[in-house]
Amino acid sequence: MSNVIELKDINKYYKLKNDKLHALKSINLEIEQGDFLVIMGKSGSGKTTLLNLLGLLDSFDSGQYIFNGKDVTNFNENERSELRNNYMGFIFQQFHLIESLTIAQNVELPLLYKGKVAVKERKEAVEKYLDLVGLLEKKNQFPTELSGGQQQRIAIARALINNPYVIFADEPTGALDSNTSAEIMEILKNLNKDNKTIIMVTHDKDLVSYANKVIQIKDGVATKEM
Ligand SMILES: Nc1ncnc2c1ncn2[C@@H]1O[C@H](COP(=O)(O)OP(=O)(O)OP(=O)(O)O)[C@@H](O)[C@H]1O
Ligand SMILES: [Mg+2]
Repeated sequence: MSNVIELKDINKYYKLKNDKLHALKSINLEIEQGDFLVIMGKSGSGKTTLLNLLGLLDSFDSGQYIFNGKDVTNFNENERSELRNNYMGFIFQQFHLIESLTIAQNVELPLLYKGKVAVKERKEAVEKYLDLVGLLEKKNQFPTELSGGQQQRIAIARALINNPYVIFADEPTGALDSNTSAEIMEILKNLNKDNKTIIMVTHDKDLVSYANKVIQIKDGVATKEM
């Protein structure tokens, strides 16, 4: 079976002061290796909640999560972070680069979290992925010296450096103009062509064309569109 991710009847609640919010309602989902899944829906519908759950950044209340054939439903925080560090890459709307670190140091970070990667190997990997996003010449500069699109390309290099099974992207073009967005989407499209699994949240209906699977979320209910 080539499913990278399976969710079975997942429910998630947020605890509010005197109440709770049923944020994800009985979600069933299968993501295969090489899929480009787009998660669409209005603001507040539950897209980020679902993406964070898929990326093991947040927990859920009932149901089952299978990652790469393994039931990770009851994994503790250590086991979750090990999975994230080894198999997952993350791209966010606001890039989330660390301003006090150079571009090279930002890209290297996931390998430091992963541990046990020799200095030389880290340096080679940093150069390989900076080159892949076309920004090797910026390696000794700092994030604030780069344009938004360049910063997002650095974030993509960072997401790729641990050679993840899955890339999670929450509105990766949300802070960019349309030309720059197209450049970022071109990079994601090429990664997907090389069989990288991509899960992307977006508001932008035009980006559905990149997907082979689309999910619509409305009030925490997910419907498969293709
Ligand atoms: N930490 C939290 N505590 C309580 N409620 C939350 C929390 N995070 C999100 N919510 C609520 O859960 C619902 C889904 O939020 P979520 O962030 O997943 O929406 P979204 O689809 O990503 O929206 P947007 O497009 O604006 O980013 C919303 O009603 C939101 O207010
Ligand atoms: Mg969101």
